[in-house]
Amino acid sequence: MEKLTGLNRVKTAVFISGTGSNLKNLIKFSKLKKSPISINLIISNTNKARGLHYVDLFHIKKKILNFKNIKVTEKKLLTLLMKNKVELICLAGFMKILSKDFIKRFNGKIINIHPSLLPKYKGLNTHNRAIQNRDKFSGCTVHYVTEKLDSGKIIMQRKVKITKKDTPTTLAKKILKQEHRLYPEAILKIFN
Ligand code: GAR
Repeated sequence: MEKLTGLNRVKTAVFISGTGSNLKNLIKFSKLKKSPISINLIISNTNKARGLHYVDLFHIKKKILNFKNIKVTEKKLLTLLMKNKVELICLAGFMKILSKDFIKRFNGKIINIHPSLLPKYKGLNTHNRAIQNRDKFSGCTVHYVTEKLDSGKIIMQRKVKITKKDTPTTLAKKILKQEHRLYPEAILKIFN
């Protein structure tokens, strides 16, 4: 991607489904001088996503779209993204799977944060699986989104040690803390 100055920040949409701690973190990052992105649109698949609270707090445009009919929803979504001149999509705890056509349309411009050291533990219940397998480390990954779930090119990863005392909940908490460092670092890596 081309090099950016403070004047031409990459217009970004963040897609969420839940708590939105990564969204909050990305919003804060986007306000820094060094940030190559501005956050212009938030998409959620549910009005129950707690992260929507930050949207109001920071006065960002939002749209809630239920993904029951994926074709219809993605058509609306594309129109919205075009209208807002969105150039980058950051998935941040977004729990819906985008269609091949949609991903193709935004080829190389959708990134995701995943709570494991990919290619290990694609999909759900990553922390539980890492503990069950007695792994010594887990972590988080920022990667490009391709048609194959959690399989696109890795941009950056961060490792987290798993201790004997860890439960899926404590591990999730430790990893989330690292996610908040990793997502901005990965975005800086893409644009620098
Ligand atoms: C994060 O741990 C993120 O990595 C994970 O959901 C959590 C969202 O937290 N994403 C996935 O599992 C995607 N497959 P947040 O809503 O507080 O950012």
